[in-house]
Amino acid sequence: MERTLVLLKPDAVQRGLIGDITGRLERRGLKLVGVKLVQVDSSLAENHYAVHKGKPFYEGLIRYIVASPVVAMVWEGPGAIEIVRQTMGSTDPKQALPGSVRHDLGLEIGRNLTHASDGPQTARDEILLWFSEVELVSWKRDNDRWIYEA
Ligand code: RTP
Ligand code: MG
Repeated sequence: MERTLVLLKPDAVQRGLIGDITGRLERRGLKLVGVKLVQVDSSLAENHYAVHKGKPFYEGLIRYIVASPVVAMVWEGPGAIEIVRQTMGSTDPKQALPGSVRHDLGLEIGRNLTHASDGPQTARDEILLWFSEVELVSWKRDNDRWIYEA
């Protein structure tokens, strides 16, 4: 089953939105298989955002992500990567569709509340970067048959 990394960024934690955002992913039917609170250091931040190094927003992005704890989570489900990105909405809250996290809870691209892996290889790399094997739990959800058809 597909897995994806989700970060609730410092603004989501500071604003008390952990429950709201996590609840949306739970209600969507995705399964939580890993979760922890992390004070990100500059080495983890630079690793995670290596792809954006050199872009005009990079320095601000690093300062943002290390400013206060984040919640790191791994969610599982059929098509989890795309489903989560859809639930979060476009990168810029001004463009995000109503009903998405970034539309409903955010205003600015530099305070857009969440991160979600953008493809299968990124998801694998990011999960390895943020979680050790023992921190991920494969578990049977009793109502799976009411969420998955087969
Ligand atoms: P994410 O990686 O956080 O899930 O978001 P994303 O794929 O939708 O956006 P991405 O292009 O990967 O950008 C990563 C994060 O950098 C910040 N950003 N700021 N000021 C800007 O123009 C700008 N562009 C990107 C956002 O916090 C974005 O989530
Ligand atoms: Mg991205």
